[in-house]
Amino acid sequence: TLKVDLAKPGIPVSPTLYGLMTEEINYSYDGGLYAELVRNRAFKDDGKTPVHWSVVQDAGGGAAIALDERYPVPATALTTSLRLDAAHAAPGHRVGVANDGYWGIRVKPGTRYRASFYAKTDGAGSVPLTVSIEGVDGKTVYAQAVGGRISGEWKRYEVTLATAGNVKPTADARLVIATESPGTVWLNQVSLFPPTYKDRPNGNRIDLMQKLVDMKPRFLRFPGGNYVEGGSVETRFKWKETLGPVEQRPGHPGTWGYRSSDGMGLLEFLLWCEDMKAEPVLAVFAGYALNGENVPAGPGLQPFVQEALEEIEYVTGDVNTKWGAQRARDGHPAPFKLRYVEIGNEDGFDKQKNYDGRYTQFHDAIKAKYPQLKLISTVNGKDWLGQQQKVTSRAPDLIDEHYYYNPMQMMNDAARYDSYERKGPKIFIGEWAAQEGDPTTNLHSALADAAFMTGMERNADVVEMSCYAPLLVNVNPGGVQWRFNMIGYDAQASYGSPSYHVQKVFSNYLGDVSLPVSAQKVGTQTWQEAAPKETPQLLPPAREVPTMFFSATRSAQRGEIYLKVVNAIGTAQAVKVELAGAGKVAPDGKAIVVSSAKKEDTNTIAEPAKVVPVTSKVSGLGKEFSYRFAPYSVTVLVLSTR
Ligand code: AHR
Repeated sequence: TLKVDLAKPGIPVSPTLYGLMTEEINYSYDGGLYAELVRNRAFKDDGKTPVHWSVVQDAGGGAAIALDERYPVPATALTTSLRLDAAHAAPGHRVGVANDGYWGIRVKPGTRYRASFYAKTDGAGSVPLTVSIEGVDGKTVYAQAVGGRISGEWKRYEVTLATAGNVKPTADARLVIATESPGTVWLNQVSLFPPTYKDRPNGNRIDLMQKLVDMKPRFLRFPGGNYVEGGSVETRFKWKETLGPVEQRPGHPGTWGYRSSDGMGLLEFLLWCEDMKAEPVLAVFAGYALNGENVPAGPGLQPFVQEALEEIEYVTGDVNTKWGAQRARDGHPAPFKLRYVEIGNEDGFDKQKNYDGRYTQFHDAIKAKYPQLKLISTVNGKDWLGQQQKVTSRAPDLIDEHYYYNPMQMMNDAARYDSYERKGPKIFIGEWAAQEGDPTTNLHSALADAAFMTGMERNADVVEMSCYAPLLVNVNPGGVQWRFNMIGYDAQASYGSPSYHVQKVFSNYLGDVSLPVSAQKVGTQTWQEAAPKETPQLLPPAREVPTMFFSATRSAQRGEIYLKVVNAIGTAQAVKVELAGAGKVAPDGKAIVVSSAKKEDTNTIAEPAKVVPVTSKVSGLGKEFSYRFAPYSVTVLVLSTR
C-alpha cells in the first residue's frame, strides 16, 4: 500500500530542482552541440601536423599541405595557417584540401550550409577556389559553390552550399576546397555550418537542442566540471578569451585530452540557456587546477576574484558597465538573469586543503557587490570525496555534492536525504548518475536514477537543485572519455538513453509541493557490494535494497497529483494507492511509463527508441485504487483533482 497524505501541507518543491550540467567532455561542444562541422578549423589541434586535413589531387602528384606560422591573419588569434602547394593544378586536374569533420560530415537533403574561410596566395596571381561537400571517395558531390578568387592579401570568404532535395542522408562525407589553377594558397579558420537551432550564427545542432529543450531544464551548470578548473591554472576556462568573433578566440587545451576551439564561449553558453528558458548556474575558477596548482587566499588570488566579478558583470551588468557594454557589443544588450554562482569545482580533491580561505575571499567579494546571488561551495566535510574539507568561515547558500554510483548502490542511496541535516545549507547535487551501460546508460541505471530522484522530491526542503552528468557523448570510440552518459550522438543522428527519458519525465511532471507518502510491505532485493580492491577477500555484508521507490507531488496550477513509482525488479508489483484527505480525484488519468523486458536494455544510434516513455489513459482512479506497476518500470501516474 502507498498512502499519500493530502491533508498535510507538504513541502514546497524548488522550481529549480531539475537542470542540466555541461562541460567540454566526450566532444560535447566541438563535435557535438556546437554545430561547426569542420574539425581543427584553425589548425591548432596538434601544433605540428594538419590533423584531420588531407591533400586532394586528381592526377599526378606534387601537391602538399603543411602548417605555416609565418603569416598570421592580421588582428586575429589565427596564428597558424594551412599552406597548400598546388603548383601542379591545371584545368581538369584539381588540387585541394579536405577535412574529414568529426567522424564524418553530416549531409542532409534540401539543406543550406554556410562555408567560410580566410585565404591568401603568395601574391603571384589570383587563384580561384571551389568549395564542395562530397563523398569521402570524391565521386559524389553533394553541394558545391565557387569560393572566390584568392589574392595576395588575407581576406575572409563566405559561400552558401545547398544539397538537393533527393540527396540520401549520410555522414560519409568531407569538405573540400580546391583549385584547377596552379599556385600556393594559405587557408585559415575554415568553417562549415549546417542550419542551427533558432538559426543562430555560430549556433547549436538542432536535434540535440530539441532533446535538451524537451527536458524543460530549469538551469544549466557551466562550464564545468573539470573544464572550469583547467589542467593547469594557465589552461583554465579563460572566459575573456571566448568572447567576440570566433577568429578572436585562440582556443585552449581542454581537460579531457583534446583542444577546445572555444566556439562555445561564455555568450554562447548564455544564449544556450536563453534558448532552453533555463537560468545559468555560473561556475567560476577558484584558484585550484587539476594538476594540483593552487593559489591560496590572499593577494595572489585577488586577480582571479576580480576575473569572477567581471564575469558576473558580463552576464548581469547593464550596458553602462564595462563588461555589460562588452556583452552588448557582442550582440546581447539585455543582461541575463543570474541567481547562482559556484566557486570552483570538486575542491575536496585539493591536497592543500585551503578551500575554506579561497571560498571566503570569493564569497566576501561577490556578496559585497552582488548580495542577491546565492553562492555554492564545492565541499561539504562529510564527505562524498573521502576528504574532510569544509567551509566554516562563511555560510555558503548551497553545497554541491557529486554521486557517481552503480545502480544498486544508487538505489541503496535513494534514502540518503531522508535523514539529512536540516539546519545547514541547501544541497545542489551538481553531478550524479547511476553508471551501467556504455557509452550511454541502460534501463537499470535509469531505474536507479529515478529511485534517487524520488528521494530528492521527498526531501525537497533540503535538495534545491540537481543535474545529471555527463550530459552529452559523441559515441564514436574516439569521442568517449567518460563511459556513462545521458545523450549519445554521431555526426548523423542522436538519441536519449533511458536515463534521459526518466529525467525528462520527472522534469515535465515536477509539481510545486511534495506530499508526504508512506508505504507498507515494500519488498527488498539483495545487493552484494564488491570487495575493496586492496582487500579482495573481504566481501562487505550483503545489503537489502528496496524493490520499489516512490514520491508524490502536486501542481496547484494544473490541479494534478504526480505519483512517481519505480519498480526496480523484473516482476510486476500490484499496489493499493490511498490518497488520504483528497477532495475530488477524477476516475480517468494517465500513466507515463518507461520500461523494458530486460534491465540491460538500452538505446543506441541503431535502435534509438527501444526504451522510451509510453503514455496511456488509465481508468478506475479515485481516492483509493489499485495499480499494477510493470516489471522494470518508472511510472508517473497523473491524477486530476478537478
Ligand atoms: O562529469 C565528469 C567529471 O566528474 C567532472 O568533470 C568532474 O567534476 C567530476 O569528477
